[in-house]
Amino acid sequence: MSASEVTKGVTAYWDARAPHFNCAASHVRAPDVWKEVLSAAFASDGPKDVVDLGTGTGACALAAAALGHRVRACDGSAEMLGVAGEAARKAGLDVQFIRAFIAEAPLEPASTDIVTIRNVLWTLERPAEALEVARRILRPGGRVVVLDGLWSAAPEHRSDYTAELARRLPFHAGLTEADAQHLLENAGFIQVTAWQHLFSSPPYPGGVPAFVLSAIAATGG
Ligand SMILES: C[S@@+](CC[C@H](N)C(=O)[O-])C[C@H]1O[C@@H](n2cnc3c(N)ncnc32)[C@H](O)[C@@H]1O
Repeated sequence: MSASEVTKGVTAYWDARAPHFNCAASHVRAPDVWKEVLSAAFASDGPKDVVDLGTGTGACALAAAALGHRVRACDGSAEMLGVAGEAARKAGLDVQFIRAFIAEAPLEPASTDIVTIRNVLWTLERPAEALEVARRILRPGGRVVVLDGLWSAAPEHRSDYTAELARRLPFHAGLTEADAQHLLENAGFIQVTAWQHLFSSPPYPGGVPAFVLSAIAATGG
């Protein structure tokens, strides 16, 4: 299986799940909670440029737009983007959706203040590459917000990728906060800060250990 077959396999999986994804999505069930946590993690003093990588049905993109930010959001799955676009339209939110794989997304270097990556690192063959993209498109001192969890802890969150596909994903079982911190520091981010304590109850059913980390793009690296 080539790298491009892995990406295509992952995309086909999310295309197929798109029509039903929002039925169980935490950001649809509790949008205000996610908005509050993201708002804290953004620590912004006004409207900023935000890019959501692997936006899916728009979890972070819609929350960021509702907070008044200028949002671009990319995903490789046309079907997930279709659901996200419809949700933005219904909510009257202005989000620029871009169909592209993260590594190839037409996003200018140093063109954004904040990058969000929620529940995407676990499903990438090269998660470090997504953080390198984040680092490249952030302005100096910009902020990445990574949200993810140890999905294998709860049966209802385990993926049903084929074994061949799953083997290619280094974090197919999910990520711990320490895994994410390590990836962030290796990608040149500093000041890693956790925000998951702001959830008044576990954000996902099944007791999945989940985290929200912000970090700053170090200058000059
Ligand atoms: C588990 S969903 C998360 C969606 C959304 N971020 C959320 O928090 O609900 C993973 C998303 O990542 C997207 N994705 C996976 N690999 C990608 C890649 N290489 N480039 C762009 N999007 C990708 C999938 O299409 C899917 O929409």
